Amino acid sequence: MPSRDPKSLRSYRWYGPDDLRSFGHRSRAASMGCIHADYAGKPVIAIINTWSDINPCHSHLRDRAEDVKRGVWQAGGFPVEMPAITLGETFQKPTTMMYRNLLAMETEELLRSYPADGCVLLGGCDKTTPALLMGAISMNLPAIFVPAGPMLRGNWQGQILGSGADVMKYWAERRAGNIDRQAWQQIEEGIARSAGTCMTMGTASTMTSVAEVLGFSLPGASSIPAVDSNHPKMANLSGRRIVEMVWEDVKPRDILTAASFDNAVAAVLALSGSTNAVIHLSALAGRAGIKLTIDRFDQLSRKTPVLANLRPSGKYLMEDFYYAGGLPALLSSLKPHLDLTCRTVTGKSLGENIACAETYNTDVIRRIDKPVMASGGLVILRGNLAPDGAVIKAAAAEPALLKHTGRAVVFDSYDEMNARIDDPGLTVDADSVLVLRNSGPKGAPGMPEWGNLPIPQKLLKAGVRDMLRISDARMSGTNYGACVLHVSPESFVGGPLAFVKEGDLIELDADARKLNMLVDDQELSRRRAAWRPKEGIYPRGYGKLFMQHIKQANEGCDFDFLEGTAPIPEPEIH
Ligand code: FES
Repeated sequence: MPSRDPKSLRSYRWYGPDDLRSFGHRSRAASMGCIHADYAGKPVIAIINTWSDINPCHSHLRDRAEDVKRGVWQAGGFPVEMPAITLGETFQKPTTMMYRNLLAMETEELLRSYPADGCVLLGGCDKTTPALLMGAISMNLPAIFVPAGPMLRGNWQGQILGSGADVMKYWAERRAGNIDRQAWQQIEEGIARSAGTCMTMGTASTMTSVAEVLGFSLPGASSIPAVDSNHPKMANLSGRRIVEMVWEDVKPRDILTAASFDNAVAAVLALSGSTNAVIHLSALAGRAGIKLTIDRFDQLSRKTPVLANLRPSGKYLMEDFYYAGGLPALLSSLKPHLDLTCRTVTGKSLGENIACAETYNTDVIRRIDKPVMASGGLVILRGNLAPDGAVIKAAAAEPALLKHTGRAVVFDSYDEMNARIDDPGLTVDADSVLVLRNSGPKGAPGMPEWGNLPIPQKLLKAGVRDMLRISDARMSGTNYGACVLHVSPESFVGGPLAFVKEGDLIELDADARKLNMLVDDQELSRRRAAWRPKEGIYPRGYGKLFMQHIKQANEGCDFDFLEGTAPIPEPEIH
């Protein structure tokens, strides 16, 4: 039953008045077979769908859009599906991170320029989730997020395969000469077995979990495998709920608070989630007018236990996590670290949503007194190499490398690294520190997932499987290793990474949160004075806009003109 006047709906301005423009809107709705009863006085629900033939993670989202529509109709709304750019992690180049803000802009402007009263956001592949949420937060209409859901477990000769993590593991074995071409092809055909997102606790599952903890999804939604029959049911229920949310006028910025972002950070830490969450959560908070610094991640990391035993840092996969109780069960274990009063799309608090959650496998989802790690899943580092910060996923690194000093082997670009890394003449040993620069937001550009630098082949053959690696790039959330990422400011804009020379000693002390190059200040000043910036590669187009407005990793990599909550007027209808 409507709890507010239907004439107060945004869509009424398009469909309701007895004037020339509304005549046009109604007559063209009629041309698509709609009658007045379909939409008159009803909330118009925009279903922002990132389905595409080029995005395997979203290949089921056409069907899910129909499930959402079914729910919207059932609840007395008018569903309108709106396709938006797909950010297909595996296919889009140079990196989907170039286009996260573009999808965020598209989402916001689709909602603004059309008669939407509320929206359902369909996506899940890495950058899609933050992009859709960023746009929806900025537009601030009632919004509910339907996560694409993870794939089934991978399988190869009876062994379970996990997205990303096992690609890198077996690629290293192939380069070491331990896997032949036939086995490699079998792995290729067994590692991605269904629709859905990567099924390790990579960026996709980290960010869909974040969406749920922030209050944007129905309880448990983010853990349901994409092809489980509970997934279309969840989509249907989301369609039903968004109509109620419009009548209740529950908007993103009514839900989001500093406490809900703390909850999201704590969940990322307890999940041993992707380092990419540091960037995306900062950007999401910026859209809500909330300041979330990388130091907050570190403060919470010092006291938040890792409870999810999931790859790449643990043992299991998302399918196991779902059967073990999923995110509600993990949050239930994590209760002492959460503000349970935060609001959610259900109209209830986070605490009410998880009140009945149970854990069915305490090796997958640990009890708080038996964590995988007591604290420190993600560590924020500072020092003369990263004055504005850097991040390392300590839980996914070889522990001995978390306190390490070694000589730098420096690559000025990704291409140079590829050309030299397997050169038998490369001066490198297991204690060396691999450094990659010009791979940040502006330098690459787009900050690709290059931070998991390959181990040189001659060291692989000698049995080395992890080394300290440092870059201003990101790393796939499905990868592992002692990789210091997001070094800020990046080298392309003159951050100190630009001044490292081959053979310099670099010191990491994760416990002390320190990352330094052991070069004295005078010498650093000399190198800084001699440094010259490189030219950007985009003379025009979106790339030029990107270069002009992208912010640094520690600030969330949003465009400067998209941050904040300054009101934008509704479009004129003339
Ligand atoms: Fe889409 Fe991993 S490639 S989630």
